[in-house]
Amino acid sequence: SPAPSLNPISDDSCGSENEEAEIDWDELGFGLVPTDYMYVMKGTQDGEFINGELNHFGDIKLSPSSGVLNYGQGLFEGLKAYRRKGMGGGIMLFRPEENALRMGMGAQRMCMPSPSVDQFLHAVKLTVLANKRWVPPQGKGSLYVRPLLIGSGPVLGLAPAPEYMFLVYASPVGNYFKEGVAPINLLLADKIHRAIPGGTGGIKAISNYAPVLKAQMHAKSKGFTDVLYLDSVNKKYLEEASSCNIFIVKGNVISTPATNGTILPGITRRSIIELANDLGYQVEERLVSVDELFDADEVFCTGTAVVVAPVGCISYCDQRYTFKTGVETAAQRLYNTLTAIQMGHVQDTKGWTH
Ligand code: COI
Repeated sequence: SPAPSLNPISDDSCGSENEEAEIDWDELGFGLVPTDYMYVMKGTQDGEFINGELNHFGDIKLSPSSGVLNYGQGLFEGLKAYRRKGMGGGIMLFRPEENALRMGMGAQRMCMPSPSVDQFLHAVKLTVLANKRWVPPQGKGSLYVRPLLIGSGPVLGLAPAPEYMFLVYASPVGNYFKEGVAPINLLLADKIHRAIPGGTGGIKAISNYAPVLKAQMHAKSKGFTDVLYLDSVNKKYLEEASSCNIFIVKGNVISTPATNGTILPGITRRSIIELANDLGYQVEERLVSVDELFDADEVFCTGTAVVVAPVGCISYCDQRYTFKTGVETAAQRLYNTLTAIQMGHVQDTKGWTH
């Protein structure tokens, strides 16, 4: 059956796709700015996704007993589209097939069917092109693309939903943290954990995120930017922050927690590991203890939304540990190298951009 026309495109109430959106690009933070179109595709339990289409961006209709509302059967992704120089300069996506593959892996864990890589890429590109007037001018931010895969069909007993919905919407964004590109300060949490062994920390499950809001709100009320979590078993190894992966730097060695099922396999994380190797750093993916953290020269976070964020200080048990920041750091070198590829300032020899 055809995909539902939730907000059918039957008029021209959206701005022409070629006319630049009327917003103050200098005021962009990381909040939803509704754009013109979203992509919607329905899927069956046996994995058939068909008749995807663009709709006007707007509300969707869901059964109160849908799998996602009752049992959290859902995944999300995040990727960014950057404008090359000048408003007519073309638009670049960074490694979108990695998001498609990660959604597929997450879907297996959550007993959901997922769209194929080609379907995912088609949907993302269509959504970006339909909303291209919302891609900020170079240097002002990016268009954040948010694919969602949810159990949309009704359930009552605990079971996979009988129907699925794949959606892609987008919003122009600026810096993720209110600090902008300035160093952030983290609170190390040892009582609230983000993930457990055997759980879903290693996939982008919707249900991984609300449980850390309490720790995040507490940290923000005390003036911290975000929370860094420890492993739930030994309570002495680093996991990640609420919204991004973590790296420490000691001399020429850059270390980050290995993806063992509790750590999100970030696409920025993987890209930074590769770029750091290329730049001559020794990169280690392994258990990283709090003692090593306190002894580090530098600490930084990575993520699609966050990009590369230097950490200026971390607090733990009323102790404050400070780290090197500024232009002469590994974090800054890596930020420059990564964003030059993402924005098309250098030739993409890795084939990461579309
Ligand atoms: C991203 O970095 O794209 C994420 O999905 C993190 C989210 C909390 C904004």
